Amino acid sequence: MTVTTTPWRLHAQQLADDITTDGVLRSPQWRAALEAVPRHVFVPRFYTQQPDGRWRETCTESPGWLDEVYRNQPLITALATTARGNQVTVSSSTKPGLMIRMLEALDIDDSHRVLEIGTGTGYNAGLLSQRLGDEQVYSVDIAADLVDAARTRLHELGLRPTLAVAHGGDGLAGHAPFDRIIATCSVPAIPWAWAEQVREGGLVLADLKRSVHAGNLVLLARHADRLEGRFLPRWAGFMAIRDTDTAPPDQRINLTPEDGDQSTTALPPHPWESLIPWMLAQAHLPPQLKFGYRGAAGTGGHQWAVFTASDGSWCAVSMESHDGRRDVRQLGPTRIWDEFEKAHHHWLALGQPGWERFGATVTADGTHRLWLDQPNSAHCWTLTTASTHAA
Ligand SMILES: C[S@@+](CC[C@H](N)C(=O)[O-])C[C@H]1O[C@@H](n2cnc3c(N)ncnc32)[C@H](O)[C@@H]1O
Repeated sequence: MTVTTTPWRLHAQQLADDITTDGVLRSPQWRAALEAVPRHVFVPRFYTQQPDGRWRETCTESPGWLDEVYRNQPLITALATTARGNQVTVSSSTKPGLMIRMLEALDIDDSHRVLEIGTGTGYNAGLLSQRLGDEQVYSVDIAADLVDAARTRLHELGLRPTLAVAHGGDGLAGHAPFDRIIATCSVPAIPWAWAEQVREGGLVLADLKRSVHAGNLVLLARHADRLEGRFLPRWAGFMAIRDTDTAPPDQRINLTPEDGDQSTTALPPHPWESLIPWMLAQAHLPPQLKFGYRGAAGTGGHQWAVFTASDGSWCAVSMESHDGRRDVRQLGPTRIWDEFEKAHHHWLALGQPGWERFGATVTADGTHRLWLDQPNSAHCWTLTTASTHAA
């Protein structure tokens, strides 16, 4: 593959234009990096899920590959097969507009040393190295094959940031302190190791998601005794951090909705339909709830949206509504749906505040306190303790 004779520069300029038009790309330095780093070198193949659930590969030889690579869209770049033969996504090239939104939010200047958690394809490490120089960029991924491939691509372009195979939850202590840490996988809790490895006044930007969809990007400044800052105004979702370089275990939902205690709800069943209330509800829920569907016996269809918790609690919400209400079934020590409803009522009573009004304070003992408007607000939520590593 040659990167000098293809029309990729025109594509890259168009991509930069698109991200500028969206109001996301503002600084000339990031524009220059976007125009200089060929995304196609980092995404020689990607996968698209078909209606039947199977994944279709598009590679350099496929028609339309180059056009797709330069669209402002995320692309799934690595799949793994679970013990039960299911294919799951384990890496991707983040939507460039989201990457730039994060880089802009980090207020990076030319002197900064930056650690990225989640090397993936290496594209973002490429943008960082192009802007800051090799000496100031560090990136880690749990997957050795991804790091190897990223290193080869970066070298092909003459870029040599420090890459390492490591659990990003531990940071990269040997190269600390950093001015900025950017995580491109979501974490159930901000690892205190990141606070220890970012200088005072430095910034950490990560997707804090206690469980599926329950959280958002948060930009935290390092103070002497804490990390503190606000959620970004627009929601974004990254793939979750994992503890091993293997496919995650298959999700098993062993429950019979008919066994649960019955009630009804007017609220929608999916967590992504009520993002902020789901995050606030986490203060009263076991960490890392799992979400899935369950069909009626003998049918392939989704009859119930189902949440399960590590303490054995579960709730199921009917996908069908009658007169605006859905059936709910719950069982176990935590009434998951009741907690969500309470959080939703509270959020309504507060006037449905958006992400920009919420912030977080993280301390060395692992406490994560969410607050409305200011850190000393009367409206605050302490998240239940979660491991900073994956479930
Ligand atoms: C969305 S992708 C990263 C995209 C990447 N920044 C890019 O430019 O292509 C998320 C990455 O996080 C990595 N990841 C997951 N768990 C990790 C962990 N514990 N430590 C480091 N990286 C991890 C995945 O292997 C995956 O490559």
